[in-house]
Amino acid sequence: MEAPDTPHVEQEPQGTPAGPCAMVIFGAGGDLAKRMLIPAIYNLAKSKLLPEQFAIVGVSIEPFSIDDFRSRATANISEFSKSPVDPESWDWFVKRLYYVSGDFRDPKLYEKLNETLSQVDKEQNTEGNCLFYLATSPEFFPIVVQQLGVAGLTTEGNHTWRRVVIEKPFGHDLPSAIELNHAVGQVLSEKQTYRIDHYLGKETVQNLLAFRFANGIIEPVWNRRYVDHVQVTVAEELGVELRGGYYETAGALRDMVPNHIFQLITLSAMEPPISFDADAVHDEQIKVLRAIQPFSPERVLDHAVRGQYGEGTMGGKHTVAYRAEPHVAPDSQTPTYVAMALQIDSWRWAGVPFYLRTGKRMARRVTQIVIRFRRPPLVLFRKTSVDKITPNELVINIQPDEGISLSFEAKIPGPAVRLGAVNMDFQYSDYFGTTPSTGYETLIYDCMMGDPTLFQRADMVEASWTVVQPVLDVWKALPPRDFPNYAAGTWGPAQADELLHRDGREWRDPTRHNGLQHAATRPNDDSVSTKR
Ligand code: BG6
Repeated sequence: MEAPDTPHVEQEPQGTPAGPCAMVIFGAGGDLAKRMLIPAIYNLAKSKLLPEQFAIVGVSIEPFSIDDFRSRATANISEFSKSPVDPESWDWFVKRLYYVSGDFRDPKLYEKLNETLSQVDKEQNTEGNCLFYLATSPEFFPIVVQQLGVAGLTTEGNHTWRRVVIEKPFGHDLPSAIELNHAVGQVLSEKQTYRIDHYLGKETVQNLLAFRFANGIIEPVWNRRYVDHVQVTVAEELGVELRGGYYETAGALRDMVPNHIFQLITLSAMEPPISFDADAVHDEQIKVLRAIQPFSPERVLDHAVRGQYGEGTMGGKHTVAYRAEPHVAPDSQTPTYVAMALQIDSWRWAGVPFYLRTGKRMARRVTQIVIRFRRPPLVLFRKTSVDKITPNELVINIQPDEGISLSFEAKIPGPAVRLGAVNMDFQYSDYFGTTPSTGYETLIYDCMMGDPTLFQRADMVEASWTVVQPVLDVWKALPPRDFPNYAAGTWGPAQADELLHRDGREWRDPTRHNGLQHAATRPNDDSVSTKR
């Protein structure tokens, strides 16, 4: 399937602009605001998705003036916006930046914020609507929410809304997630609470729903009758960088699994929702989480693998072990890699394992979902030289090289019956071009529009932690004895391969080319499944 022969699909990125509002960013002096939020909001402005009546109020401890805040934003934007900065739209944008400095624990900060919001309302006519974005360290989440409540800043009127976006991590285990939900629920209704998971901002993740439910040929085979197993790989080349302080308290399981990876799994495994309404989608996602077979301590030992990277070589360069990274203990037991086998006990999926793995300092950055279909019976080919058939595989590449490919068997031309695996390959960039973005644009826009579909409901967060809590408990009780157990630049510890070998399966090599492979032109390729 060659894209150049196919019509280019025109993009229609423009929706209607959001209604009047102010957006308050707590933690405006931090990295997330600088690298992601301000550039994402600016990209929305460039796409004409922001209202005229709009303002941003940065809040953080740094004693900036409004002018300082504006000049810093101007100095940073070209580096982080991922697309050229247009002077006219930047000028429009920068005039709408305001700033309040103070300590998040101090009630006076909220008085000042209240005054600034009134001033903003007068100057930009934001009509009293306000989106509070908590881009702070997690310890401040309950504090800021509570203070906002005390200051009356979360109270909605008949025609005005107040919403709060809470960043990840939402709790660090099940009890703390329940506690945080409770603290937030004391001040905000569920409708006002937007728990963000940036994976849901990725177009390819959103496309999972379109792919599954807008194509009549997919859904009928999307079940245990046809699917052998599913693999989800979220591999990063990056190490822990300068985030050792946070990562030491989190580790790979907390950092990636109950949030990003469970989003990928629930969207892949859920039943068709009755509509795209947030509750309809969330109701189906939560059923998947609740159907995951609970991990008994024995199951944790057999079905979950942890790893930590040692030193290694990446791109020809020596890289240090996790334990030698800044802010990491020299005898750290924090996992930087996790692999697990999940069973979803539903009518659709019973008996189909979902294998997941994620790690830092792996051989290549790739996020991929692989649907491995069942092998057909060989009877038809008994009297030929074909001795095995490669099962069909559907590979959904979330990042990079966004796209979808389906492998199938084809007859290799010639008098003998020989088979080779070939691919049908769809690359996003061939059809839709690339739209430079931070991944936060859609999520911020949806908050302004009041659409929580791409956010996590309280019960989803708790259901996710419920799945991983037994693993956290067993791993805490039994510290690892073999760390570091994989070299930087590899695909993780040998035990993770064992996890699949035991079931007669293996991880798909994520670096395997997804493009058109014609077996006949690649006679030495392993995918040619013939006796030679
Ligand atoms: C974050 C994790 O939520 O996701 C990071 O805290 C991780 O440790 C990041 O690197 C991965 O996101 P992405 O979009 O680069 O796959």
